[in-house]
Amino acid sequence: MNNPSSNALYDRHPINADQILNTVRDAGKDMERLIPADLRPHDQDHYGGEAAVLALAEAAGLKDGDRVVDICAGVGGPSRLLAERYPTARFIAFDLNGGRCRGARRLNAMVGLQDRISVVQGDAQSMPFANGSLDLALSQEAFLHIPDKFAVLAEAARALRKGGTLGFTDLIAGPELTEQDRAAIEDGMEMRTIQTVSGYGAMFDAAGLSLVRHDDLSAAWVGILTERLEMYRAMSASTQATLGDGVHERYMDAYETFVGLVQSGRLGGGRFILTKD
Ligand SMILES: C[S@@+](CC[C@H](N)C(=O)[O-])C[C@H]1O[C@@H](n2cnc3c(N)ncnc32)[C@H](O)[C@@H]1O
Repeated sequence: MNNPSSNALYDRHPINADQILNTVRDAGKDMERLIPADLRPHDQDHYGGEAAVLALAEAAGLKDGDRVVDICAGVGGPSRLLAERYPTARFIAFDLNGGRCRGARRLNAMVGLQDRISVVQGDAQSMPFANGSLDLALSQEAFLHIPDKFAVLAEAARALRKGGTLGFTDLIAGPELTEQDRAAIEDGMEMRTIQTVSGYGAMFDAAGLSLVRHDDLSAAWVGILTERLEMYRAMSASTQATLGDGVHERYMDAYETFVGLVQSGRLGGGRFILTKD
């Protein structure tokens, strides 16, 4: 694997299947009869929750019957949401981290979606899908960890049928992002090779993908990330109890640095919709 360090980050991440199930149990849900909506306030590990998943799927033109991969799917929250909304689409939740994949399988089974969503573990820079076998590839807040962004774009293009669509959201480098900023988020958050919009543009062309639409999400992400930082702070007691004080403090320090860069405009966000030529 080319970025095992992102694996370590997700092995000690405050959001995980145990934490989600504990939160749902504490809210008084019947654990024998969980439905996807019970998990939803807790199982979306990106910026913008349910609305962001649905906006991405709609912009990408997801429809019933499609074969869809969620690249870097985490514990599978977006796949569960979309599997409910599009009852005859088939989903693959693809992720590098073994704990994320086990968590996704466990949560899928608890809400009865295990037959609609296959969970596959692997590296997005080299995916195990046949050429042209997919209609749609989606990804949220994950390419930011991947060192070779061209490789993941080229892999998505290879696995899509001609005319198929890749829709993703990711961090974008603003003009004032410094080498020191890059080093800080790489060290603390495993965020690497963050692209500018034009840097991504050159890669799209080379990967055989045509840009259909780009939306600048930077302003929206300032509010979302400021709230998310508050959420992690509020989770501190329970996270320290499961992960240990030092681990949680290191994560919080890094997260605060990252959110500061978004608040100052040195980092922003973008949504990209592309079709395979
Ligand atoms: C911020 S989480 C996003 C999870 C999910 N997209 C969501 O919105 O809930 C980033 C995910 O990327 C995964 N990841 C990082 N590098 C990867 C790689 N090279 N291949 C596949 N998954 C990767 C991590 O394991 C993690 O689950």
